[in-house]
Formats: sequence, structure tokens, C-alpha cells
Amino acid sequence: MNILVVGNGGREHALAWKLAKSPRVERVFVAPGNAGTAIDAENVDIAANDFAKLIKFAQQNDVGLTVVGPEVPLAAGIVDAFAAAKLRAFGPSKLAAELEASKVFCKNLLRQADVPTADAQAFRNPAAAARYLMSREDVPVVVKVDGLAAGKGVFVCGKRAEAVAAIERIGEGTEFGEAASQIVVEERLDGEEVSVLAITDGRTIVTLPPCQDHKRAFDGDQGPNTGGMGAYCPAPVVDERTMRVIEEQVLVPTIHAMKRSRRPFRGVLYAGLMMTNQGPKVLEYNVRFGDPECQPLLMRLESDLLDLLEATVDRRLEEIDPPAWDPRPSVCVVMASDGYPGAYKRGQPIRGLDEAAKLPDVKVFHAGTATMDGQVVANGGRVLGVTAVGTTISAAKRQAYTAVKCIRWDGAWCRKDISDKAVASFGS
Ligand SMILES: Nc1ncnc2c1ncn2[C@@H]1O[C@H](COP(=O)(O)OP(=O)(O)O)[C@@H](O)[C@H]1O
Ligand SMILES: [Mg+2]
Repeated sequence: MNILVVGNGGREHALAWKLAKSPRVERVFVAPGNAGTAIDAENVDIAANDFAKLIKFAQQNDVGLTVVGPEVPLAAGIVDAFAAAKLRAFGPSKLAAELEASKVFCKNLLRQADVPTADAQAFRNPAAAARYLMSREDVPVVVKVDGLAAGKGVFVCGKRAEAVAAIERIGEGTEFGEAASQIVVEERLDGEEVSVLAITDGRTIVTLPPCQDHKRAFDGDQGPNTGGMGAYCPAPVVDERTMRVIEEQVLVPTIHAMKRSRRPFRGVLYAGLMMTNQGPKVLEYNVRFGDPECQPLLMRLESDLLDLLEATVDRRLEEIDPPAWDPRPSVCVVMASDGYPGAYKRGQPIRGLDEAAKLPDVKVFHAGTATMDGQVVANGGRVLGVTAVGTTISAAKRQAYTAVKCIRWDGAWCRKDISDKAVASFGS
């Protein structure tokens, strides 16, 4: 079977790399892809939002399954467009993708389904949101824009004045466009954050091992928010018992509620959770693999990914064996370009990739890379996701950083403490 992966980040490189290992897969295309997917698969020069061209390509190249990486095409209805053309695509429909694309929709659904989450209020009018804050006790809150904002639409606030300033900023500017048509003000939760991803066909769920990512730019979880500077899997903070609680109190009721709302969910349901004193609570849902969580997850997956994704699309997930996992943990360290998450340069040649590739138990996933005159060059803020497995989290970390040391370009940097929070609380 031929496969088309839509997207161009580290997540899509990992998906293409893993799918290419399936004995049932002939060719893997990635649209538009990066320099890494050009090596492990074949790049197709079509943008992720050009549904008409993607559909035409899939028809002309005998693509049996399209796998959509990012949230933006999902929220715009790419899976519906493919279905209308009688093509199979992995991911939620436009209506189901609202679980990520509208925080107000998500909050309402969680409330209906009685899923633990932060108390929240939604406002169409920024002035009303500010009045609400002034009328309450001055407690820490989080202010969020309703729609997709590439991780920039959330303000975690301490004092009330901070929250009011955030609301003003959202209300005044054109920064968030349509995404800011509603504002959510919610209770600020305390605890450790984890990501639990599940694959579901709307009836059966396959829970994947828990992961943790590092969103802040600098060591010790300091500095500005980023798309994610690294991740590891499994996250020891979620034990077997807690995992059952998350399945029973979070994932299953959510999937049932989506079905009842006539938005059956098929694809990856990604719960962003806060482990509070009162148990796990949902911060948000994503409707696709996380980037970078996808990289350490797929590094450990021993089963055929195509079997899982195909069974999901065909709604027969209950018929297949649960996936097998490498018992060894994995760690992914993101290498970024100087300036990220702000402005950064492009076009610097990257050296040492061959050397890194020779190390055992290592895979370097490309994110923001391109090929220029036969050279791999930096072409984004997050450039590479250097991923390794090891007998312990510490060993996986050491191996990932050994690979990082092989790689250099002008302006390359990374966090030095990816996975330390797992080791700090639980030992190696
Ligand atoms: N209620 C909350 N309490 C504490 N922190 C929160 C809360 N909601 C969000 N956050 C923090 O803000 C980050 C981004 O929020 P999230 O809802 O995941 O939005 P998005 O990923 O769409 O930007 C979370 O990863 C978490 O660190
Ligand atoms: Mg998030």
C-alpha cells in the first residue's frame, strides 16, 4: 500500500519513518515534508492546507491511507474532504476536531461528560470577562483564547491584574483574529503535567504509554513557551493505577460524549493532564499526535503502525492485538536555532548527521530542515528531534545527548535537562 503523510515537522518524520517499516507498505509520500522525510520517504511539494491538490495526488498515486499530522488541516476538515472523495484518511472529522479547535466546545463537553477539569467561564466580550474577574476573589487564573493559536493563546496568571492585562491584550489586538471570538477564564491548577494519548475508532480505545514534554525554552522549565523542547516516554509519574483512572474517568467518558454529540471521534485523542492533589484533571485535548511526544512514542512502538491506523479508519480496532512496546524508555531532545521561539535565521548547513546516525539506539528526526545544493540546512526554529532509547531514562538521555554532541550548525542550541524531572522524582 502507498501512504501519504501530511505535514512537515518532526512528528511527520517519525510517522513516515515508522510507517515505512511496515511490510505492507510500498511507498511513503510526505507533503510537503522536510530534509529527513526526503531520506526515509518521498517528498511531495504540496502544502498541508491544499486539500484539492492532496486529494488529486492521492488518487493519482494509488494512496491507500493518508495520515494527517497537524491540527490546522484537521480543524479545516481535511478528513471530511478525503472521505467525500472516497479516500481513507486517519484523523478526526472537522466536527470532532473542535475538541482541540474550540476550548469552549471542549469545556462544555467535559462538563457534560463529568470529566475532571479546571472550573471555567467563557465570554464573548472581553469587558465582561474583566468584570467577572473584578467581581471575584483574587485567585490565580488562566486566560485562554477559544481557537487555535499555535500555543500562544494561553496566559497563566498569578495576580488578578495580570489576568486583566491578558484579557485587554486579547481584546484590543488583532493578534488572535477569529480565535479570540471567545475568551475562557479558568481556575489555575497545580501539579505535574503529563500527556496521555489514545488511538480510538470511536468505540474502542488503545491507550499509549504516558509521556511528558518540556514546553519552556530554558533549563529548569524557565523562559518562554515553545512548541516543545523535548519529551520522554514513559512518564513515571503516571503509574498503572493512575493510568486506569485516566482511562475510566477521562478518555472513555469523553469518547462516549463525542458519540452522543454526533461527533464520533476517530484518530488520536491526546489528553493534556494536570496531576493535582485531587487526581488527574484535563487541561485540554489535542486531536493528533503531539510534536515532540510522537517521536519518543514511535521510537518504542514495536507493532506495525499501519495496522493500528488502518483499523482505526476502518472502525475495527477491537479486532486487533494491543500494540507491543519496547520496555526501554525513550528520550527526545529538540535542537533549535538561535532566537527560537522568537525570530531565527535559516539556511545554515548542518554537520554531523551521519556521525549521529551511526550511534546505536538513536534516530534523528528532522523538523525544520531543508535540502539546499545537496546539503541539509536549518529551515525552522525547532530543527531536529534527537531521539534515543536506553535501559533506563538516564541511559536514554545520555545516548540522546551523545548524538546531540555530534551535530552542529551556526546557532544550534538545546536544553540540557530533558527528562531530568522524571529522574528527579523517581530515580533512574
Ligand atoms: N488550568 C490551568 N492551570 C494551570 N496551568 C494551565 C492551565 N491551563 C493551561 N495551563 C498551562 O498552559 C499550557 C498551555 O495550555 P493549553 O490549554 O494546553 O493550550 P495550548 O496547548 O492550546 O496552548 C499548558 O500546557 C499548561 O502548562
Ligand atoms: Mg497544550
